[in-house]
Amino acid sequence: MKIIMLGAPGAGKGTQAKMIADKYQIPHISTGDIFRANIKNGTELGMEAKKYMDQGLLVPDELTVKILLDRVAQPDCENGYVLDGFPRTIPQAEVLDKALVELGDAIDYAINVDVPDENIINRMSGRRACLSCGATYHIVHIPPKTEGVCDKCGQPLVLRDDDKPETVKNRLNVYHEQTQPLIDFYSAKGVLRTVDGTVDMQDVFNAIVEILKDAGNN
Ligand code: AP5
Ligand code: MG
Repeated sequence: MKIIMLGAPGAGKGTQAKMIADKYQIPHISTGDIFRANIKNGTELGMEAKKYMDQGLLVPDELTVKILLDRVAQPDCENGYVLDGFPRTIPQAEVLDKALVELGDAIDYAINVDVPDENIINRMSGRRACLSCGATYHIVHIPPKTEGVCDKCGQPLVLRDDDKPETVKNRLNVYHEQTQPLIDFYSAKGVLRTVDGTVDMQDVFNAIVEILKDAGNN
């Protein structure tokens, strides 16, 4: 099962992708998490990516595509994966499509988590992230057991550098210009499904599970 999560920054792609990955036992692949892990470890890739991420801009396709194609070629991706934050531009989607066609394969579903811009800024300012294991929390909706500490690995939680309100506005603009066109791209392929992302996260997940059930997945 190969799934793409689409949606604005803060729509809940990561939250839902983790739940899908747990239930269906497939890897959750987030290009944003890969970049943040590289920034944390001070790699060359991380330093390059940070220049763009801190401004709310996209990391150039040349850097992003290679990382993603290497990742999905790993053995744990044989039975599928859930992509979160990739593709984000039409050229990225075309490269992924071509790589899959060469393997006689295709994306099963692109799930668009729909949340209006008004809800996004509020969500982002409440988000806290663990840069060690990638877990995310929300100070009101999903608080950690101990304030400021990751439940899963005990590391400190932080407000992501790109979650400041000015940067979130840039990210939303970039989303509308460069990523939203993917909705038509996947709709034309017949694999787009849209879920309401404004409801409780468990209800969002239930809607996704119903979609995947139609494809014969329990
Ligand atoms: P990335 O890490 O992918 O960030 P993003 O798309 O901006 O999305 P977010 O992770 O901010 O939001 P999300 O949709 O995952 O929401 P979440 O589940 O956390 O990318 C960061 C940067 O990396 C980009 O700006 C770019 O520079 C670069 N990059 C990454 N991939 C790239 C690519 N392919 N090409 C080029 N550049 C790339 O939820 C948000 C908050 O809301 C959380 O606090 C959560 O707890 C809460 N929440 C979730 N669901 C609900 C709900 N139903 N109700 C209430 N609260 C909820
Ligand atoms: Mg995310």
